[in-house]
Amino acid sequence: MDHFLYRDGVLHAEDVPVPEIAATVGTPFYLYSTATLLRHFRLFDEALDGMDHLVCYAMKAASNQAILKTLAQAGAGMDVVSGGEYLRAKAAGVPGDKIVFSGVGKTAAEIRLALEGGIRQFNVESEPEMEVLNATALAMGVTAPITIRVNPDVDAKTHAKIATGKSENKFGIPISRAHEVYALAASLKGLEVIGIDVHIGSQLTDLAPFEAAYDKVAELTGQLRAQGHNIRRLDLGGGLGIPYTRDNQAPPLPSDYGAMIKRKLGHLGCEIEIEPGRLIVGNAGIMVSEVIYVKSGEDRDFLIIDGAMNDLIRPAMYEAYHDIIPVVEPDPGIEQVKFDIVGPVCESGDTFARARVMPPVAAGELVAFRSAGAYGAVMSSEYNSRPLIPEVLVHEDQFAVIRPRPTFDEMIKRDTIPTWL
Ligand code: LLP
Repeated sequence: MDHFLYRDGVLHAEDVPVPEIAATVGTPFYLYSTATLLRHFRLFDEALDGMDHLVCYAMKAASNQAILKTLAQAGAGMDVVSGGEYLRAKAAGVPGDKIVFSGVGKTAAEIRLALEGGIRQFNVESEPEMEVLNATALAMGVTAPITIRVNPDVDAKTHAKIATGKSENKFGIPISRAHEVYALAASLKGLEVIGIDVHIGSQLTDLAPFEAAYDKVAELTGQLRAQGHNIRRLDLGGGLGIPYTRDNQAPPLPSDYGAMIKRKLGHLGCEIEIEPGRLIVGNAGIMVSEVIYVKSGEDRDFLIIDGAMNDLIRPAMYEAYHDIIPVVEPDPGIEQVKFDIVGPVCESGDTFARARVMPPVAAGELVAFRSAGAYGAVMSSEYNSRPLIPEVLVHEDQFAVIRPRPTFDEMIKRDTIPTWL
């Protein structure tokens, strides 16, 4: 459920009519709903009720500080994957002891940054990384709390580009080698082993792969404890999928996921962390765009809009489906038409949808891409010298620009010209 609904004939974000925002900030733009963000965070939080737990929002999904602050004020921790994300979380007021650091390629500089600023734990992904973390911590005279990310070799049954838990993926250490790697970690004086980490992929629409992975984590917990490791925290990653269409079968709910975690891991008495990104922000955001032209091709009509692949890369990159709806509510009886929906960027990959059946819209009208809150703005670029589009946050009847659109001048002035030119 989200808070983007038609009311009085136009799409509203909570209590604000979307055309009013478009008139103020121009198109295209990203628009987020505070109520939806909070609702989704609380669904996870409540799903783990009764267990010692922390929901660490995977901020790679949408990292605007206003979003981070909204979630942090509700009690969220953060899952970060770079020095930039770490500093952004800190700037948004998230304390270090609520930040977990994931990622396969943490540099010594990033590690230092997090050890200086405070960190809940590092999720270590390889032995070489472990050595660097140990050396850095020892040099600073501190101890780094760690979990080790294990790769459980489980098929997440999602798009190949976002599956991470198979042995051929670059992530984690093979679970079959966990014993020797934990033994190495225990021997390093700069590290304190506190738990196990696992993350098998994104946009999972079935609980079965999670269950398979968590069974393996439960078994490993018992074995490692028997070997003397004090395993007291399990980071279970993110990955629960969201509905992108209104007709398909909805993925399991956070409550189903939480109940499964309790069933599989509750008996271990560990503190539980989860790292959801998409489910918290995906359906809490839309992208609003204006139709520039309706062009009749030989055998199809193109809806040419002012948003493009540089603004929302998911359809081009993952063949992702996004529901695209008119901002003015169509008459219920209106005859649907078929469009290829495309942006102005100069490549055919700049296609959001082919033969999409939808109500007719004309040049100058607004359309909204639903489910665009996650991996939308954060993956945008200035390809074709199109300035990054603004982000706007709604809270009840108020809205605020949380990242302004750069002017052409600002964009162009970032280039610097060498003296020999
Ligand atoms: N934790 C780790 C270690 C991750 O790598 C990810 C996502 C998450 C948590 C959050 O997963 P989520 O709950 O959002 O599924 N750009 C792609 C998705 C990439 C996901 C990367 N890792 C897309 O647009 O579908």
